[in-house]
Amino acid sequence: MPADPAESNVEPVETRPFPALSTPRLTLRAFTEADTPVFSELLAFYIVTRFSDWPDAPPPDRCAAAVKRMISSYPEGWGCAWAIEETTSATLIGAIRLNYIIKGPRVGGIGYELHPGFWGKGLATEALHAVVACAHGFFELNRLEAWTLPGNDASDRVLAKSGFAHEGTMRQKGYFKGAFHDFRWFGRVKDDPVARP
Ligand SMILES: CC(C)(COP(=O)(O)OP(=O)(O)OC[C@H]1O[C@@H](n2cnc3c(N)ncnc32)[C@H](O)[C@@H]1OP(=O)(O)O)[C@@H](O)C(=O)NCCC(=O)NCCS
Repeated sequence: MPADPAESNVEPVETRPFPALSTPRLTLRAFTEADTPVFSELLAFYIVTRFSDWPDAPPPDRCAAAVKRMISSYPEGWGCAWAIEETTSATLIGAIRLNYIIKGPRVGGIGYELHPGFWGKGLATEALHAVVACAHGFFELNRLEAWTLPGNDASDRVLAKSGFAHEGTMRQKGYFKGAFHDFRWFGRVKDDPVARP
C-alpha cells in the first residue's frame, strides 16, 4: 500500500458512462445482477477455475457477491468488469476485467474467463485486444499486468498474442485452495504493440 494516502487507490469515483465495447464477434457490456446464474454456471466448470484463485464450484452466495463486486468496480473507480456476450446470440459467454486500477503509476491488472464451449476460436484474444485498447485509452493506464499459474498455456498464449511479455515468476506468491502457487507475471506498457506473433 502507498505510504501517502493521497497516492492511494480510493479516489476519485468514476462518473463517466460505462465503457461498453464491441468487437467483430463480441459485445463487452456492464454486468447486472441478472447475470449471476449464468456466471455461476461458468464458474461451476472445474476447467474454468483450476488455474485461478476462484474456488472450484463456488457456492451461489459467493457467485452473487462476485457479480456485485464486478458491478461496483467501475462506479467506485478501482476497476472495471465486462460481461462478454456473443453478439449474434446475445449469450453471456464469459467475463473480462481490470481487477484493479492503481491510480498513481496508472497500472491495471487483467483477469478473464470464458465458457469452455467457446474456447479455441480466438474469442478471449479478441476480447482482450478491445480491453487493452480501452485500458490504455479511456482509462489512460500505462502498464497492464496479469498473472497465470504454471500450466495455463492457453492463457499465456492469449496474453502473448495481446502484446504482453512474460516478465518472470514470483515463487509461491499466492496461497489458495490449500496450497502455495507460483505466479507467472506478464506485462505490457502503452507503447508496446498490441499484437505479437
Ligand atoms: C484462457 C482462456 C480464456 C482462453 O480462451 P480462448 O478463447 O480459447 O483463447 P484464444 O482462442 O483467443 O487463444 C488461445 C490460444 O492458446 C492456444 N492453446 C489452447 N490450449 C493450449 C494448450 N493446452 N497448450 C498450448 N496452447 C494452447 C490456442 O491454440 C490459441 O493460440 P493460437 O491462436 O496461437 O493457436 C480459456 O481457456 C479460459 O477461460 N480458461 C479458464 C479460465 C482461465 O484460465 N482464465 C485465465 C486465468 S489467468
